[in-house]
Amino acid sequence: MGNITINIDGKEIETQEGEFLLNAARANDIFIPAICYLTRCSPTLACRICLVEADGKQVYACNAKAKDGMNITTTTETIEKEKRAIMEVYDVNHPLQCGVCDQSGECELQNYTLEIGVDSQSYAVADVARESKDWGHLHYDPGLCIVCERCVTACKDMIGDNSLKTVARGAGPLDAEYKAEMPKDAYAMWNKLNKSVIGLTSGEDMLDCTSCGECSAVCPVGALVDTQYMYKTNAWETKQIPATCGHCSAGCQITYDVKHTSIENPEDKIYRVMNEWNYVSLCGAGRYGFDYQNKDVTKDEEAFNKAVEAFKKADTINFTSTITNEEAVILERLKDKYGYKLVNNEAKSFQTFLKDYSEVSGTSLYGSDLKETMNSNFIVSVGTAIKSDNPNARYALNNSLTVNKGAGLYFHPLADPVVDGLSKNLMSINHKPLQEEIALYLVLDLFGDKTKLPSDVVSHLASFHSTKTVTVTETIKEKVIEIVKEMKVNKETGEEEEVEVEKSKMVPKKVSKEVEVDDNRLLELLDAPKNFTEALAKFLKKKDSFSLVVGADLYTHPNSKNLARLVALCEKYANFKVVMIPTLTNTLGVSLINELSSDAGSYSIGYNTAGDFTLSALGDGDLDMPAINQQEGTLTSINKRVNPTNAAIGYGGYELSDIANALGIKSENTIDFTKELPVSKGFKSVNFDDLPDYYTNAGEEVRGYELENIAVSVSDDESVTVIDESLSLEGEIIYSVNPVRQFSEFTDKTTNLDEESGIYMSEEYLSSSELNAGDSVTIKSESGTLTAKIVSDNKITGKIVCLPTFDSKLNSEAMFSAYRFATASIEKV
Ligand code: SF4
Ligand code: SF4
Ligand code: FES
Repeated sequence: MGNITINIDGKEIETQEGEFLLNAARANDIFIPAICYLTRCSPTLACRICLVEADGKQVYACNAKAKDGMNITTTTETIEKEKRAIMEVYDVNHPLQCGVCDQSGECELQNYTLEIGVDSQSYAVADVARESKDWGHLHYDPGLCIVCERCVTACKDMIGDNSLKTVARGAGPLDAEYKAEMPKDAYAMWNKLNKSVIGLTSGEDMLDCTSCGECSAVCPVGALVDTQYMYKTNAWETKQIPATCGHCSAGCQITYDVKHTSIENPEDKIYRVMNEWNYVSLCGAGRYGFDYQNKDVTKDEEAFNKAVEAFKKADTINFTSTITNEEAVILERLKDKYGYKLVNNEAKSFQTFLKDYSEVSGTSLYGSDLKETMNSNFIVSVGTAIKSDNPNARYALNNSLTVNKGAGLYFHPLADPVVDGLSKNLMSINHKPLQEEIALYLVLDLFGDKTKLPSDVVSHLASFHSTKTVTVTETIKEKVIEIVKEMKVNKETGEEEEVEVEKSKMVPKKVSKEVEVDDNRLLELLDAPKNFTEALAKFLKKKDSFSLVVGADLYTHPNSKNLARLVALCEKYANFKVVMIPTLTNTLGVSLINELSSDAGSYSIGYNTAGDFTLSALGDGDLDMPAINQQEGTLTSINKRVNPTNAAIGYGGYELSDIANALGIKSENTIDFTKELPVSKGFKSVNFDDLPDYYTNAGEEVRGYELENIAVSVSDDESVTVIDESLSLEGEIIYSVNPVRQFSEFTDKTTNLDEESGIYMSEEYLSSSELNAGDSVTIKSESGTLTAKIVSDNKITGKIVCLPTFDSKLNSEAMFSAYRFATASIEKV
């Protein structure tokens, strides 16, 4: 509900004080043309076509703010002239190659030209040669570019890579007469447009970014396109299959755009993935990692019968969280009927963490989501390599920093230049592994309400404080008496003579003095930057909404129980809204649906992971299963939403529900279990086909439903254990983390994602060692040994070596006991 009323073209609407008029209009289904504005981003005023009249004054709807009682007219004679001239200008020198343009059919230039009725051209300017650029996964054709700067804005305000900018076009000036003749906004827009094209902030011809493709998705014309999609199909020939991305816990809304493969092959093929980019931003895995379906599978009856026999023999089902909620229910039913141990260590750690958190918070789920994080203006991140663990969490952080003028603290051992580059108002504290507890204690110390926090926490925090004497230098103004010589008339002699007079003046002087200041040893333990306290004081100016994002380093930590309790205390007594990043795609769903065991029995079924009998959607097991992009069902996201997903690609083999049917768990389709999801855990009893899947014009997400955050009974015990300062990992440190765009064997299987398998080292690490990219090294930890090739990674810095999990052949998980960090030795083979 809005808190003010405004009037647009005679229609009274409610909105929020300060909302942009364009957003207020859109939320109420009122159309105002707008090209450069992207919801969730700062207005750039590049197009000027959103002109309206507000209280008699011409303003741009995308950056004029609503005030109570405002009267807005979307069309006047002057505005119509401006819009017409703007669209004519956009059409000047635009090549007429719609027949082969990738955007044709969904092109905003075509649409607005038609909408505004441009049927003749009044303007002209000599064109300049504008060469197309191949930027790896992107192709840029400046000839088609209308310099709306949406690509620049998306990359800066949403993604945070800041890889694009406008650069000089090298064109001559516009005809001087236009200045006098043309509507003034159209002229100003054209004058700027004619000077620019899009280039790279790196200044080179090599695009070095995290390769999300959001810039090409938002491009209104065919100027910036994904190389993999270019010239493959016309937009209007594809069918849009609404789905949820299956790669990480963000649960992004996507459509798979599918069409037959070729004239000879009528089978559907995914040509690209699109998204509602005004409301959701994809990472490169979501955008480009789509062809991971289990192909050419038919019903192999013999393998199926063997699977049923294996289930009869098994006492354990090992599985990963890359399954739907419905499949998780099937596994749970099988467990109830046959007593299987359900083993999924990653989901088990998350489940335990959530339970430990609930014991203090009194709620079954964490309180916040990424939308609220994005809308806050101070974010603290602890225990997650945010860039790769959940790209949308990083986008939320970046959007808060850029659009809300936010600030934040990023606690993580792995130094990350991408995170550091998001804003100067984000401070990274690259503490040592196993110090996550100290980071959370620091959050309580800095932000906790000491009158409400448990007294043992308050006294423990106090034990880290002391006063110390420091010498500070300050500049004071000091009065100085100067003797100056002046000529004065001697009253007695009447003659002019030189006399000395005293003159005082204030001069700055540096003085040192000793002062007593608070010394917070938690900062020292965390190796916080020396200017931490002063920088934080600046960061906190005008901040009033605080979010805490935590991740898998905490769930796998040897003291995870304590960490979970500390997180709950941050939420209860430090006014932080909390989001936990579920480790994999459906970790949250699995952790709510399944009763998980810690130990496996003697004979196991593996589902998308190794077992004595393996079911695999990767096509490498004893019986094939459908991949997520071949299934109908639901996935539970970090935003605590149960999102529907649909099959983009056909599948001809058996599914888990077929095995369940053979074992007496009857259902016709897997989605029969959608309404069976456990209500006691916050799910709703809704039929799959009744789940909605859209965003409103106001940006409200109406996809599936939100889990109920159930109140759980808690004891009065809010105790937490004290910091164990002896906890440490010494020597060479390895960290279990994937590069951006890779999450699992499913992303690894796709054709467009080409990250190399191997051991990821920073350029800094390599330059200070004898090792080089491409060398083979053997890494030994207490838990295992592996040999792999070194990959040089310029998206990390420092000395921590990263071991990705996306390539199961590397088996890097065997190098870690549970915690994501371990000590290891590294030797060149
Ligand atoms: S490439 Fe596309 S999004 Fe970027 S400025 Fe040009 S037209 Fe706009
Ligand atoms: S692909 Fe993503 S990160 Fe790269 S330039 Fe485009 S928006 Fe920026
Ligand atoms: S949408 Fe307002 S200036 Fe472009």
